[in-house]
Amino acid sequence: MNFEVVAGDLGVRETDAIVVNLFQGIASPGGATGAVDGALDGAITRLIADGEITGKHGEVTVIHTLGKMAPARVVVAGLGKSSDFDAEAVRSVSGETARRLQGIGVSRYSTIAHGAGIGGMDAAQSAQAIVEGTVLGLYDFDRFKSSKDGRKSVETVEIVEFDSSKLASLQLGVDRGMVQAEAVAFCRNMVNEPGNRMTPSRMAERALKAADDSGLEIEVLDRPDLEALGMGAFLGVAQGSKEPPKLIIMKYEGDPDNPGNNLAIVGKGITFDSGGISIKPSANMGDMKGDMAGGAAVISAMKVIGQVGPKINVTGIVAATENMPGGGAQRPGDIVRTMSGKTIEIDNTDAEGRLVLADAVYYAHEQGIRRIVDIATLTGAMSIALGHICSGLFGNDQGFIDRIKASGDAAGERLWQLPTYDEYKEQYRSDVADMRNIGGRPAGSITGALIIGEFAGDAAWAHVDIAGTSFSSKTSGYTVKGGTGVMVRTLVKLAEELAGE
Ligand code: BES
Ligand code: MN
Ligand code: ZN
Repeated sequence: MNFEVVAGDLGVRETDAIVVNLFQGIASPGGATGAVDGALDGAITRLIADGEITGKHGEVTVIHTLGKMAPARVVVAGLGKSSDFDAEAVRSVSGETARRLQGIGVSRYSTIAHGAGIGGMDAAQSAQAIVEGTVLGLYDFDRFKSSKDGRKSVETVEIVEFDSSKLASLQLGVDRGMVQAEAVAFCRNMVNEPGNRMTPSRMAERALKAADDSGLEIEVLDRPDLEALGMGAFLGVAQGSKEPPKLIIMKYEGDPDNPGNNLAIVGKGITFDSGGISIKPSANMGDMKGDMAGGAAVISAMKVIGQVGPKINVTGIVAATENMPGGGAQRPGDIVRTMSGKTIEIDNTDAEGRLVLADAVYYAHEQGIRRIVDIATLTGAMSIALGHICSGLFGNDQGFIDRIKASGDAAGERLWQLPTYDEYKEQYRSDVADMRNIGGRPAGSITGALIIGEFAGDAAWAHVDIAGTSFSSKTSGYTVKGGTGVMVRTLVKLAEELAGE
């Protein structure tokens, strides 16, 4: 689909529908909405008075113009309370609007740049949010469906602005929104593809494609390379699978004169997590095809970073493998030696994310990287603590944690920090090795995080647990049932924010 930025008057566009908006609590609309209301002899004001249009966040009302205007339909999109208004509200209402219009067979429509008028939002920001919300709201994982449902799909969305001085800015926002939305969709595709399709090798192929598209260097390490590096924890997880493990390393050099100005983004890439010998119950085990969502976010964010070009050096690292049971699988009780030299007793083979990340994070540290953030669907306990509303955030450096939190807020992806008191570390003490890979039930997300942190050396390190946010069970706003692509936008924003320092 494509977006066109055009100057002119929304009311005379020859399109299937025009989209205007309304803040909650407004009885008589102004601006473009007021003009459309006038052309419709006060229909919008009447619907507001009757309580059918409230301006509530995400509300989408379709009104037929019956020849009173050039477009056949007017859509009034609710923006919610003006005091809560932000880019996230625009993304969300754009997704709802796009799905509704596609659902009634509209393939071309026009919209105002929500918020860029009285909302006081920057025009570029508004356009970017519209594009992200629309593309992601219409996202559909249908590549394995033999017959598509035959509905017309949205092909063109015009963003119409009467003030022509804003056009350049709107176009910048559209271009940026497109790059970002495509990367999030690319991430969602990887997460939604089942384990037999999205193997570690296929993930590496996607990363090669992304690197090629964005001009990044890429290196994929195979089992012999991992053996030479001494990545015993990563290899221990991989040894139960017939699929060869891959350590994917993508490099973006945005500040080659300052090699110390660097950031590593490290992703958990378990392409299927059966639990291994500590096998999971069969109910919903299929969801574990998405246990590579952290890795997919890293690859997708690197793709955007390469295209956007911030002045910072960013390395994306993904530890990709399956976690399978079998004659060659690692056993509870086994002891593995990590690349760092520290040993880990395997108490539960289902706590595999921290094992692969122990080696991947240490590898980042060994590359001389000073700021490392890992992204992982690490613990089921995460959705017990925070539900599906925000991701868990942990780390050893408050300044770095704050930057990540702020980047997430700006990107519309919420993060909430959890504590990492030293006392928690006692929970994963081992009698026979330097540590065990689990810390018991209490504070399971925290001990999981802290185990990874043991391998970050003196780097500023943070960990984002996306177990509750990487997969959605319902469609709403610009979120579609299935993989969400969470953290792609936050990671891009983080690289840009750090580059600005
Ligand atoms: N991939 C899972 C965590 C997970 C669970 C992600 C549900 C998304 C939805 C992880 O590898 C795992 O199995 N964690 C265990 C840890 C436990 C054995 C300490 C868990 O959460 O039960
Ligand atoms: Mn597991
Ligand atoms: Zn897992």
